[in-house]
Amino acid sequence: MDLNQILSWLAQTNDAALTQLWAQADAARAANVGDEVQLRGLVEISNHCTSNCAYCGIRAANTTVTRYRMEADEILACARDARRLGYGTLVLQSGEDAKLSTDFITDVVSRVKAETTLAVTLSLGVRPKEDLEAWKAAGADRYLLRFETSDPALFAKIHPPRCAPLAQRLAMLRVIHDLGFETGSGVMVGIPGQTYESLARDILLFRELDLHMVGVGPWLPHPQTPLGHDEGPAPKDQVPNDELTTYKVVALTRLLIPDANIPSTTALTARSGVEGRELGLQRGANVIMPNLTPPAYRRLYEIYPAKAKTADNADAFDARIKARIRAIGRVPGEGRGDSRAHRRHWQGGQHD
Ligand code: 5AD
Repeated sequence: MDLNQILSWLAQTNDAALTQLWAQADAARAANVGDEVQLRGLVEISNHCTSNCAYCGIRAANTTVTRYRMEADEILACARDARRLGYGTLVLQSGEDAKLSTDFITDVVSRVKAETTLAVTLSLGVRPKEDLEAWKAAGADRYLLRFETSDPALFAKIHPPRCAPLAQRLAMLRVIHDLGFETGSGVMVGIPGQTYESLARDILLFRELDLHMVGVGPWLPHPQTPLGHDEGPAPKDQVPNDELTTYKVVALTRLLIPDANIPSTTALTARSGVEGRELGLQRGANVIMPNLTPPAYRRLYEIYPAKAKTADNADAFDARIKARIRAIGRVPGEGRGDSRAHRRHWQGGQHD
């Protein structure tokens, strides 16, 4: 699929044509990653952030946020919850928090690995290569870092001047890939100023970066952010931040990278409700990330509004999500849900 074909799908409004797209994406999902929905337990380990991304509710300049940083023992308790609920992966996510030291994360990863068989995914923002090497050596399996948009001017507009430019983030994604991590990235859909052409280029870049995991969700305006008040003129080909466009990106990503792991994201659910989460799973996605963050902290990790409301008690959510997965004819995954492409690439190599 080339740029023009992606663009014409993004512009498509005909129901019969879109039904075809969903069916193709669902068939590609079934053929390449099967009927299991992989469950990744998410722990939001710190909402401290030194960055000032114009869209994000936990940006440094938002002084109304009460900040927290979880203790290692608290994180380990979440890892045990993940095992108890049968999840194969633990995802540790945070703001850009330099006080989450290299050694602290190394220690947490080592402890999770010593105690459980969980795959560990890190999503801790832009970090030096030395950190990534230490965490890989400690046993971390995967790293997530969204590039947010492939348009350098739009990237610069939504990130503060001192933020690492797009090129540096892309370079870090290549380092992550070369170190042998399963590599994840993604974008927001409908960022003010995002055009259809730039979104189409985002999707092509997913493939060019040889990503193993791709997460996309709609941009959701947060009132305590500059972008939440963006009154500037929208370009004539502004992408809407709606669920339909998000499904299209999910479906097209599935067709371009058939064996990728693709979540039906919390942002999509916040926008569209539980029905939308299921439609995501039926239009290309194969991953859900149940939130295991202790509720008192979870409330403080408000990167977009109403996010806290999308999740509740981990056990209640777990029972509901597994029932919904079965209700749409799918199977809750119990393994690690590793990327097949990653395994092929590293087979017999240094990664064993
Ligand atoms: N709306 C939607 N997604 C957001 N993110 C951050 N802020 C928002 C928002 N207001 C996404 C970014 C980030 C991920 C952790 O959450 O894509 O990479």
